[in-house]
Amino acid sequence: MNIVANWSYPTAIKMGRGRIKELADACKSLGMKKPLLITDRGLAPMQITQAALEVLEEAGLGRAIFADVDPNPNEKNLEAGIKAYKDGGHDGVVAFGGGSGLDLGKCVAFMAGQTRPVWDFEDIGDWWTRANSDGIAPIVAVPTTAGTGSEVGRASVITNSVTHVKKIIFHPKFLPGVVICDPELTVGMPKIITAGTGMDAFAHCLEAYSSPFYHPMSAGIALEGMRLVKEFLPRAYKDGTDIEARSNMMSAAAMGATAFQKGLGAIHALSHPIGAVYNTHHGMTNAVVMPPVLRFNREAIEDKIERAAAYLGIAGGFDGFYDYVLSLRAELHVPENLTAMGIANDRIDELSAMAIEDPSAGGNPVKLTLENTKQLFADCF
Ligand SMILES: [Fe+2]
Repeated sequence: MNIVANWSYPTAIKMGRGRIKELADACKSLGMKKPLLITDRGLAPMQITQAALEVLEEAGLGRAIFADVDPNPNEKNLEAGIKAYKDGGHDGVVAFGGGSGLDLGKCVAFMAGQTRPVWDFEDIGDWWTRANSDGIAPIVAVPTTAGTGSEVGRASVITNSVTHVKKIIFHPKFLPGVVICDPELTVGMPKIITAGTGMDAFAHCLEAYSSPFYHPMSAGIALEGMRLVKEFLPRAYKDGTDIEARSNMMSAAAMGATAFQKGLGAIHALSHPIGAVYNTHHGMTNAVVMPPVLRFNREAIEDKIERAAAYLGIAGGFDGFYDYVLSLRAELHVPENLTAMGIANDRIDELSAMAIEDPSAGGNPVKLTLENTKQLFADCF
């Protein structure tokens, strides 16, 4: 099945194999004449990145790239990116990559027109209204993984290089004007990244679906997102060249990030500090802590999960869903627990204190306290 589609929800999405060829048109449609492509160091020399630059060059849009981007982008990467953008006289950004390239690209476009420091725009209350929204440069997003969903998100995660704390920088105009979802760009992902990013998409859907807030639109998207992961993540993992599976995983990733406006929860609240302290892969960490978090939340979400299980064709209600998660993890070779991930069980107090302060904590169906979070962490080892 060849999936080709144009959607305008939540933004303009051009989905389909080979559609990276439309990159220059996408830039032009947003008024760009001299875009800056922003990606991470690892992707910069790769063929998919060079091919994207060629599309821009052939259309007379230049061939500018900034790739001084760490796996967890920080304010120093951001400053260097803004400098490259301004020095080059650019008028828009192509945010290209997995989470780091997308997040830093979006943030450079945002900060190019601001005078206040980036931390003044953390996702707290209405801080985003401090921004000069006329100064925000247009953004085309091109995901090369299927997990983060940052291509349809209104925020970027920037790590403070001094405190190592990840901050969410938010503005409605972070949402890219055009997204190109070309499944061929994800074909080269190693198996472990396919698994980790895919489980991130699943965690977004599961946590959004489980959060207690009233947002039926998001709940519906999250449910179908879980179904796509169930059907297509094992296929994409087994055969990375399965374009139908890769296409559907790109959809599931975008759906997860669209849905998590409804909230995230303890999977992310635990995963963020573990990633910050031990530099583990975000999606893989989510997958590791997922079963203990499901047990922890059981009482509050049992009815909802029973409905989800029915939709997903899983027998046995909550228990069936739980067993399904275990079998999916096994199929993807996810480590059994944090110990198997190589993490020592000696910083639970510190991790728990960080987890309850994490922005995701508020969306968990069971309120996280220092005491119950320590217990939850202990269960993850
Ligand atoms: Fe995530």
